[in-house]
Amino acid sequence: MAKPIFKQAEFFITVKSADKILKAVYPEIAFLGRSNVGKSSLINALLGKKNLALTSSSPGKTRGINYFLVDKKYFFVDLPGYGFAKISKAERIKWQNLIESYLLKSKLLKILCLLIDSRREEFMESDLQMIDWLQYHEKPFIILLTKTDKLSKNKMAHTLKKYQDYFPDNHVLPFSIKDKKLIMDTALFLKKFLT
Ligand code: GTP
Ligand code: MG
Repeated sequence: MAKPIFKQAEFFITVKSADKILKAVYPEIAFLGRSNVGKSSLINALLGKKNLALTSSSPGKTRGINYFLVDKKYFFVDLPGYGFAKISKAERIKWQNLIESYLLKSKLLKILCLLIDSRREEFMESDLQMIDWLQYHEKPFIILLTKTDKLSKNKMAHTLKKYQDYFPDNHVLPFSIKDKKLIMDTALFLKKFLT
């Protein structure tokens, strides 16, 4: 069996207010996207752990910013999901502010991964707003199209091309927690940004 790219991982801390954000401790990879898109599942898959980041089939599972310490020298950062209808407006604004503070404050953020569900035919308004914000603040990001196991090969190729055409300057990668090769390819790709 191929050697894992990331060998060791543990939960580090949950941060729920902007003043507690870790500004510059270890080089970081952050995962951003709508609630239920698969951020926590992807982190577990990349780290070869089943339940390190808590996942759920109902949206809104991850509250706060969860830092995972990887190989004692990197952070994987699981950000709260946005676009989740079943929370109050006040709470939605709170999480959005926390996400924005994180993105503005983290000095060692090496690569930001924006996750989008590969089954979506149309862009979601909340994703477009997030992307506008990232572009306005000149925050580079890559796009990970999640849950590709739910698509046919043809459909996946079509979706990849659609996103790549729409975002010619961003890397776009397919991902599924059920596909060992995609997990390995993604881990390898992300690791490059940490060295
Ligand atoms: P929040 O914490 O609410 O923001 O959600 P999240 O983005 O962390 O999503 P999470 O990882 O909890 O996954 C949501 C649901 O999607 C769970 O039921 C997962 O099992 C499922 N899921 C995640 N990734 C995949 C995938 O690649 N393929 C399939 N088929 N299901 C997936
Ligand atoms: Mg989550």
